[in-house]
Order: sequence, then structure tokens, then C-alpha cells
Amino acid sequence: MSALFEPITLRSLTVPNRVWMPPMCMYSAQPVGPETGVATDFHLAHYATRAAGGAGLVIVESTAVRPEGRISPYDLGLWNDRQQESLARVAAQISALGAVPVIQLGHAGRKASTDRPWQGGAPVPAGDIGWQAVGPSTVPFGSNPSPSELTVEEIQEIVRSFAASAERALAAGFKAVEIHGAHGYLTHSFLSPVSNHRTDGYGGSFEGRTRFALEVTRAVRAVWPEDLPLLFRVSATDWLDDRESWTADETVLLARELKKAGVDLLDVSTGGNVKEAAIPVGPGYQVPFAARIRAESGLATSAVGLITEPVQAEKIIADGQADVVLLGRELLRNPYWPQQAARELGGDRRWPVQYGYVVGSRG
Ligand code: FNR
Repeated sequence: MSALFEPITLRSLTVPNRVWMPPMCMYSAQPVGPETGVATDFHLAHYATRAAGGAGLVIVESTAVRPEGRISPYDLGLWNDRQQESLARVAAQISALGAVPVIQLGHAGRKASTDRPWQGGAPVPAGDIGWQAVGPSTVPFGSNPSPSELTVEEIQEIVRSFAASAERALAAGFKAVEIHGAHGYLTHSFLSPVSNHRTDGYGGSFEGRTRFALEVTRAVRAVWPEDLPLLFRVSATDWLDDRESWTADETVLLARELKKAGVDLLDVSTGGNVKEAAIPVGPGYQVPFAARIRAESGLATSAVGLITEPVQAEKIIADGQADVVLLGRELLRNPYWPQQAARELGGDRRWPVQYGYVVGSRG
């Protein structure tokens, strides 16, 4: 029996397998007007396809909790009713196809207001569709404009926005929320001394730098049902071992705190906070971080990053390096990867009923 295709239970939620789709921004919503941040037909088809392909759980892309928290003007948002209705259709579609719908909630912080990557990804200046980015301090990301430093009142307002969007996510039918604490966006930028130079209670020591992440987590946990899980995506390192930065040692300590705050699974990524960081990218390069955090914090983890082969994915789970694997670009290339891997590894295939009775036995 394949370990990859064993179900996993988090609180009362059972997910049929351990091949999940990670959040991936599609930059395909309207930037202004009444449809701002609203999921479109593209999003419906995109997520439905991966659910039909057999991913046990689908994490909808980073969705902003506030307008200025969007990475690009074209991001999804979840701060109003229209956005909520559109995302309810996406969640229903994922569920109808047998996968568990989850949504990542985020705030882009100092990396906000940038153009779509396929149009160069440059900062979009404040004006027609762009806005002034905010951050823990005025330290810019790379050559982006300097963010304005958040006041304590503004920080607390953002914490409340995370909780409000989580309430909307629940009403829209999502079974879990993932807090985006990675890739140099607002939460990660608070964690790292590279980007957080504050001298108040939200900066300085480990306790100060992790305060925002933990406040967001507690605020979301307070509105999220006891019997449903909470996920948190972290960057386990800034990849700057030669100078003061966010490290794997601190990530382990944070993981223990997140566990106490009610997080059920840590989604372990890396990097994104320092433009010039040298990252040794290669097959499964982030898996050791997921393994270490799992071993040292007792929290369940997911591994992500250049996991592309069924045998590679199976081994990560069978060896206990992570509880779940996430396949990003590979599921863009091949949405049916999970069905094909199940055939190869001897796991349960989960065809939609409309296909299963004709293709199931040989699919
Ligand atoms: C991403 N990634 C990403 N991560 C995240 O936490 N929130 C997001 O919205 C996005 N958006 C996004 C868009 C696109 C087009 C890509 C390719 C990636 C990172 C993604 O979840 C994943 O961690 C990486 O793609 C690495 O995994 P793969 O692609 O090597 O399997």
C-alpha cells in the first residue's frame, strides 16, 4: 500500500491522500471596480481541474485580506461579499470533485503593488491601480520603493482583517485556512531581522519579531471552528547564513509556538525575503527543513519544492520526512499527476464519478 495515498486526518477533517496542491497566484482578477479581487471563470476551471486530477486537498492561491495586501492589483481578495460569493463557487466546485477546499490568506506587505510576473513584475506606482506598500519598517525589498512603516494601530487592524477574512472563508465553504507566513510577505517580513528593524514590541527579540505571526494565528484560530484545521506557511530560512536573518533554528522555535496557538500543519517553504539570497535549488531541496521541523516541533509538516516524481513523493512520506507533499508547477503541467501516481504506486484513484465508472478500472 502506498503511504502517499493513505488518508490523513487533521482534527475532524480527513483528507483522502497526501498529494496536495499548494497555493499559486494566478493574477487573474480585476484590478479595480466592483469585480476587484473576485474569482472568475478561469479560477473555477483552474481549481476544478486539479480537484478532478486527484489532489486530495487544493489550496486556493494567496488571497488578500485587505486591498493594499494584494501582491499585484490582479490578486484575489476576501474582504467583501462579492468576493466571498465568487470564492464560495470555487470551494463548492473543489468539494464536488472530491477534494478538500482550503484557502491561503495573505498580506503582501512591502512586496505589494507589483505587476503581473509575465509582464515583468515591476512595482506598480501608487496611482490608477497601484498603491503605497506597507511593512514593519521602511526597509525596501530589493530595488522596490520603501514601504511606509506600520503603526501599532495599523498592525492591529491587519490582525483583525485576517480574522474577518477567515470568517468569510468559513462561510464560503472552505475547510481550512492557511496563513501565508512565507516568501517575504508581511508576516515573514516581521519575522526576519533583515526586514524588521522595529524597536517596539513587534520587533527586536525573537519574541518581538514573532508577535505579529502569533497574533494573526490566535485571531484566526479564535474564529475558526475547533474541529477544523489551521495551516501556516513558513519560510524556514532567509538563506543568508553569513548575516543576521531568519533561520531554521528560529523556525523550529516558532513552530512550537504555532502549535500551541492551534496550528495543525506547517507548510514548509523557504526564501523570498532577500532578493540577493543564493538558493541551492534542486529536486526536493526544501524537504530537509520540513523533516527537521516535524522532528523537533512535533507539528505535522508538508514538503514543497521540485517534487515531481511519484517515487520521490512516496519516499518523503514513507520515510517520515513530511506528512504531506505539495506539487505546484507539476500540477500546472499535469493536473492528473495524482491519478497517474496512484496507478503507479498502487494507491486509491479518486476519479470524479462522471469519469470513474468508465475509466476507473484501467485509469
Ligand atoms: C507560487 N507559489 C506561491 N506560494 C504561496 O505561498 N502563495 C502563492 O500564492 C504562491 N503563488 C505562486 C504562483 C506560481 C505561478 C508559482 C509557480 C508558485 C509557490 C508555490 O506554492 C510552491 O511553493 C513553489 O512553486 C514550489 O513548488 P513546485 O512548483 O516546485 O512544486
